[in-house]
Amino acid sequence: MEGVALNDIADQFGTPCYVYSKDALSQNFMAYKNALGDRDHLICYAVKSNSNIAVLQTLAKLGAGFDIVSVGELERVLIAGGDPSKVVFSGVAKTAEEMRRALQLGIHCFNVESEAELELLNTTAGEQNLIAPVSMRVNPDVDAKTHAYISTGLKENKFGIDINLAPEIYKRAAQMDNINLVGVDYHIGSQLTDIKPFIDAMDRLLLLVDQLNDAGVQLKHIDIGGGLGVRYKNENAPSVADYMAELLPLLEGRHETLVMEPGRSVTANAGVLLMQVQFIKSNGDKNFAIVDTAMNDMLRPALYQAWMDIQPLELNSSAEEKPYDVVGPVCETGDFLAKDRSMAITAGDRLCLLSAGAYGFVMSSNYNSRTRAAEIMVDGDQAYVVRARETIADLTRGEKLLPESD
Ligand code: LLP
Repeated sequence: MEGVALNDIADQFGTPCYVYSKDALSQNFMAYKNALGDRDHLICYAVKSNSNIAVLQTLAKLGAGFDIVSVGELERVLIAGGDPSKVVFSGVAKTAEEMRRALQLGIHCFNVESEAELELLNTTAGEQNLIAPVSMRVNPDVDAKTHAYISTGLKENKFGIDINLAPEIYKRAAQMDNINLVGVDYHIGSQLTDIKPFIDAMDRLLLLVDQLNDAGVQLKHIDIGGGLGVRYKNENAPSVADYMAELLPLLEGRHETLVMEPGRSVTANAGVLLMQVQFIKSNGDKNFAIVDTAMNDMLRPALYQAWMDIQPLELNSSAEEKPYDVVGPVCETGDFLAKDRSMAITAGDRLCLLSAGAYGFVMSSNYNSRTRAAEIMVDGDQAYVVRARETIADLTRGEKLLPESD
């Protein structure tokens, strides 16, 4: 990766270990900026895809805004030097406390997902004599044709408000004393490899924007969410430039700022997860590579049956090539990272799970009381620990024994 051998990183920092390339992150982010050129825009990186503060710092330096879903993510953005005035706050269940903090910091906008949330925000802002900038997240009812768990733009999903009810809700919001209507947003799903659902969603959204305009509600921005897919295997993921070439003509002559919230397409292919083969085991026809890394480190294969590429770090000429299921130490049949992959490996070899920069470390847990992995950022020929591997002391931090009783 860049000027550093991944094997050296594993030697130095151990496994399991996430490694990110600063250059790849920067290039992926700049692809958005470059594709938008002179068009008025704000790119709010979706913090949930990888919230390491060094990742956020790298993107903040390139002028990124941030899409957050909790006050925890907001605090991370601040620590990383991000600008709160470029933050959009998404999520279906913001608390009054989270709203207060975001209001005090003067974030760009709240992406509101229900009338109940709108009312709580109006009250909370009122109590502080502040005005909350608001965009309503509408559900355009388009099928993103992605995995059911990461599809969000259908009526049956919990997200956003029905686009047909939006004009009525905007009208009511316009009457609220502490709400300032600044935008409209949608997010139809993640890992989209087809541009058409995005275009369909925009067509529907623009009808709404025009309708609101006629009713006297003038919005300053249109937020198209995240969702551009990446190549894990052989997907033909569209480039940002392809996407914008189809989207921007629809916005020609419009004054609204274009906001977007990309996550995966910035981080996924900028990171890998390194692991070591602990044992090789055969049950009849089936071969298992048992590794030191598990579903608690990388949940995507177990949760979404996601296919992620896995490769030995070094050529092993003394091993025979065989199909392996790569499985971890966690006591669950669902604990696998890859299935049926042909590799020539023996115990002690290292493997590299590719495209692991997005929804990897952030979804990791301490299940089975496993300490969470280290995170390393490579910059040129330097490798920096950007999160130390957890220790056993970290595992029980905050836990208490009951008082002794006879
Ligand atoms: N904006 C909103 C409101 C979102 O809910 C999401 C992702 C994004 C932006 C960023 O979407 P992206 O550009 O990353 O597609 N854990 C799953 C993905 C969950 C996505 C949730 N929302 C996975 O590993 O595939």
